[in-house]
Amino acid sequence: MADLDGNKVAKDYGIDKPFHNQSFYIKGMDNIDWGMKDRLSKIFNPKTGKTVMLAFDHGYIMGSTSGLERLDLVLPDLLEEVDCIMGTRGAIRTCVPPIYNKGVALRCSAGSSVLDDDMSFEVIGVDIDDAIRMNASCMAIQTFIGAPGQKDSIENLVKTIDAGNRYGIPTLGVVAVGKDMERTTKFFLLATRMLAEFGCQIIKTYYCEDFEKVVAACPVPLVVAGGKKLPEKEALTLVYNAISKGAAGVDMGRNIFQAENPKAMARCVGKIVHENYSDAEAYNLYLELKDKI
Ligand code: 5RP
Repeated sequence: MADLDGNKVAKDYGIDKPFHNQSFYIKGMDNIDWGMKDRLSKIFNPKTGKTVMLAFDHGYIMGSTSGLERLDLVLPDLLEEVDCIMGTRGAIRTCVPPIYNKGVALRCSAGSSVLDDDMSFEVIGVDIDDAIRMNASCMAIQTFIGAPGQKDSIENLVKTIDAGNRYGIPTLGVVAVGKDMERTTKFFLLATRMLAEFGCQIIKTYYCEDFEKVVAACPVPLVVAGGKKLPEKEALTLVYNAISKGAAGVDMGRNIFQAENPKAMARCVGKIVHENYSDAEAYNLYLELKDKI
């Protein structure tokens, strides 16, 4: 306890000043607890309100994939370029230095693989104790709206939300777009709103036509997945369009780690997300950096 020597008597009560109420900078999050806000602030930059997430959780359904053959060699160089990582506990514990000290979106769903015809039946693959032990900034659960495993995946999601609310860890609901699932505006309007109504604090979805309507109808922040590998120029236009239409960030995997120069790509994505670069400006920077860094 503080010593009592030289203790000054309180005197300036600022009687004429109203209490400095703080409305939180992330959409829909004014009424959550301090700890959850603290964790969200590790994901979404407090200055810009946005995030660049590096996704390398592909291994949970497809094993090693092009660009991620050696997580231990690929990840360290990319960490300084992003705000948050999206990975499994196995990848993070073995290949991410614990001094990384930024956002961790822990992939917690499990149970399907690319060998399945139907990947929509999953389980909760990480319990809350280990998410706490991992110091997760949020827990990511895949949901398959409209698929045979819809109910199972929603059950996984709401159980994770309940556990996360108990301990102040946000849940990131991942809108799955399985092999035969539609990717229309109508579908994303339905799926993102459902996940928000279930209580997700963050939702990962895909860019679509009229994306601004999906953003407007969803009361929590949306991050956009990169999806299949595109030419770098097109991928940067995807980022620009998503951010321009209200996305709170991107969660990109293949379009970063399969780029000709992943580090340069991650940096240029960040320029669009946090520094209002246009896609053309970001692509010109990419061409400049790809042979330098
Ligand atoms: C893998 C995932 C990824 O987190 C998500 O799809 C983002 O990665 P990419 O940009 O490569 O699509 O859910 O199962």
